[in-house]
Amino acid sequence: MIDVIILAAGKGTRMKSPLPKVLNTVGGKPMVEHVIDSTRNIDNSKIHVIVGHGAAHLEERLAGQDVNIIHQEEQLGTGHAMQTALPHLQPWGVSLVLYGDVPLITSSTLRQLIKLVDENSLALLTVHMDDPTGYGRIVRDRDDNVVAIVEHKDANAGQLAIHEINTGIMAVNNEDLNRYLPKLENNNVQGEFYLTDLIAMSVSEGKSVRTTEPDSPEEVLGVNNRNQQAELERYFQYVKANQLLDSGTHIFDPNRLDVRGELNCGDDVSIDVNCVFIGKVTLGNNVKVEPNCVIENCQIGDNTVIKAFSHLVDSTIENHCDVGPYARLRPGTELAAKVKIGNFVEVKKSTIAEGSKVNHLSYIGDTEIGESVNIGAGTITCNYDGVNKHKTTIGDGVFIGSNTALVAPVEVKSQATIGAGSTITKDVPENTLAVSRSEQTQRDDWVRPTKKTKKS
Ligand code: UD1
Ligand code: CA
Repeated sequence: MIDVIILAAGKGTRMKSPLPKVLNTVGGKPMVEHVIDSTRNIDNSKIHVIVGHGAAHLEERLAGQDVNIIHQEEQLGTGHAMQTALPHLQPWGVSLVLYGDVPLITSSTLRQLIKLVDENSLALLTVHMDDPTGYGRIVRDRDDNVVAIVEHKDANAGQLAIHEINTGIMAVNNEDLNRYLPKLENNNVQGEFYLTDLIAMSVSEGKSVRTTEPDSPEEVLGVNNRNQQAELERYFQYVKANQLLDSGTHIFDPNRLDVRGELNCGDDVSIDVNCVFIGKVTLGNNVKVEPNCVIENCQIGDNTVIKAFSHLVDSTIENHCDVGPYARLRPGTELAAKVKIGNFVEVKKSTIAEGSKVNHLSYIGDTEIGESVNIGAGTITCNYDGVNKHKTTIGDGVFIGSNTALVAPVEVKSQATIGAGSTITKDVPENTLAVSRSEQTQRDDWVRPTKKTKKS
């Protein structure tokens, strides 16, 4: 079994965030959860998360997850963090050390690293960087064997010129951790217990250090400030957009797409610029999404078009629907096939059956609408009496004239017609016309007022 240890106790002062650093997000997901998720695919592992700053926030967020939370009360360095973890680890086997603020590490790189560790070797993930400032440098001897890691702040001029850096990610035998961790000292510039000192210790006992590099260097980029967070976000989105392009989705501009969760696309889907997908979104075959839409946790059927500037949340939309522009679908909206929702229409917790239309400026809440219904412009379901919500039911084939107020609870039975401008407070029977508005009156003797002019 592998003990996975995710170091996440640091404060992340430079983020200037009220949250602990590792709860800040990339691609809509807290960084620490990216790390947890990429280790989930490693067989037979137990995940430990070391928390300190903002521990309560982390415990709350990770509550449902199968992870062991370890508290490091004082943050005295990465070596100290591992000392804190030691009693929780199995006495033998292998530990994989990861950082909660290095979110984009992939399972494939981790598997490659784990393969390198054995009784006589520990495995280290390194990378070559053009600008290695701030990182620990990998020091090798003449035969190219790793002999030590020197932190930037402790390095001499020669060591500072090294471009191979320590990613911090390593796989090591628990027996070695047990032997070396208690011997760490903090006599360095930062006065911290460095986990990296383990390298020199094991080399001095004749062990070897095997290194490998990640599939792509962005995997090991850490986040210490908002700039780096934004950079990683772009890289993450670049990867997502390319996966979609590779699978045949037409993305108008991969630099103007944001996927904060899981986006599944059928064949021949097209997504115009500036769309944001949140949570789990499924787009069926031949779906078109026009510019500037926000779509969160929705399922959208084949051949449906979502027109520009629409905002859809927790909704299900079937085939051949037409939604927007400027539509707002709130949680619990279910549109059957061939439904049309036009501009400035808000729908909440309502089902609309096949072929019905709500084309302009309406609010439909807590409503059940049958098939082939036409809802005129400006129709409002008055579902809230100030205390409770009530239901509106509209049968098949109903025609509702413009500017109608339907005061719930109320039912308009099938094939009924409602005259424009009505306020409907009583149920309307089948096949009838209901009109409730004041009579129009005329005055034949009426003269339109004229503007008074000043007499000179
Ligand atoms: C560390 C490495 C450095 C490497 C760099 C890669 C050491 C001594 N140095 O430096 O070689 O190039 O990462 O990014 O290991 N943490 C704790 N408890 C602590 C201290 C830190 O949980 O007491 C956590 C932090 O939250 C963070 C991680 O460990 O997630 C790394 O700590 P940090 O202080 O950022 O180390 P660096 O100085 O960046
Ligand atoms: Ca760091």
